[in-house]
Amino acid sequence: MISSEAVFAAVDPATAVERTRLAFERHAAGEWVMPAKVYLQSPPHGDFRAMPARGAGLALLKWVTSFPGNSVRGLPVVRGAIMLSDADTGEPLAVIECASVTSLRTGAAAAVSAQALALAGARTVGVIGCGVNGGWAARCLAAVGYGPGVCADARPEAAAALAAELGWGAGSREAAASQDVVVTVTPGTEHVLLASDLRAGQHLAVLGADAHGKGEVEPAAIDRSRLFCDEWEQASAGGELSGAAAVGRVTREQVTDLGQVLIGMAEGRRTPDEVTLFDSTGLAIQDLGICLAVYEAWRQGRIEAPTVTL
Ligand SMILES: NC(=O)c1ccc[n+]([C@@H]2O[C@H](COP(=O)([O-])OP(=O)(O)OC[C@H]3O[C@@H](n4cnc5c(N)ncnc54)[C@H](O)[C@@H]3O)[C@@H](O)[C@H]2O)c1
Repeated sequence: MISSEAVFAAVDPATAVERTRLAFERHAAGEWVMPAKVYLQSPPHGDFRAMPARGAGLALLKWVTSFPGNSVRGLPVVRGAIMLSDADTGEPLAVIECASVTSLRTGAAAAVSAQALALAGARTVGVIGCGVNGGWAARCLAAVGYGPGVCADARPEAAAALAAELGWGAGSREAAASQDVVVTVTPGTEHVLLASDLRAGQHLAVLGADAHGKGEVEPAAIDRSRLFCDEWEQASAGGELSGAAAVGRVTREQVTDLGQVLIGMAEGRRTPDEVTLFDSTGLAIQDLGICLAVYEAWRQGRIEAPTVTL
């Protein structure tokens, strides 16, 4: 198994942003493919997800948890493994620790969405929810030139630690929500972005609601925003927009896939006053983008991993 330490040694945040952008582009061009993720409930803890994807001669299956209650048990919310295979021969190539891959591609998606949709002069960042994936969103945004930022968390010590690491500040939810680029990465059990927080020209990357029933954004704030998502089938079934989609408040025509913007097939931001909202549910093709870089690093001898013959 390629460990999390090896994954982080192989892929720094700037590389994660580059590879995640590539994954969105290849998927939008129809070169990389994936079905929507499958959820397996595991009450009362949360759910398992099975996420396959194929592209660049490789195929993978990610088997991963979202167990929100794990943090109070002192356990990671996200844990599991990725099986990487040769797409031509079917040969299993590697097993890769998946929380590290998830963090890199999740954080990177926030940065790619900001690069594509935020105002050209946008710099400051608000992070609401400074746990594992909020931390990586901040690191990826910082790696591509965003910041300084305001870190806010229900646990002040989490906000303070992230702020200290990046040389940013810790502050209130309201302060974080007023920055140029706002990222939410909470468990999605309550609204942390309100319509009254929004100001013209902001970009919102909402990452925490990645299953139906979760939500971080007040419906009136969704109404006020121009909407983007990582992939409509997944986002309408299990993302921030799924509640609004279920009752017809948001329709397919109102939501643009980020990849289509990246390859120039759809319009991004239209005016400096628009508030853009990117709903991330997390795609298997993003994992593929990171795993490709990890596997290349291993083949080039830049990282080590124990090998077994199956
Ligand atoms: N979109 C994606 O691709 C993607 C990927 C991974 C995880 N997620 C989701 O992101 C969420 C967070 O995952 P994580 O692994 O970072 O969890 P985590 O437990 O490490 O972090 C969550 C943080 O949110 C904070 N928080 C909780 N309620 C809050 C509130 N009301 N206001 C401010 N802060 C609050 C917690 O104190 C914690 O620090 C989960 O719902 C997870 O399923 C999404």
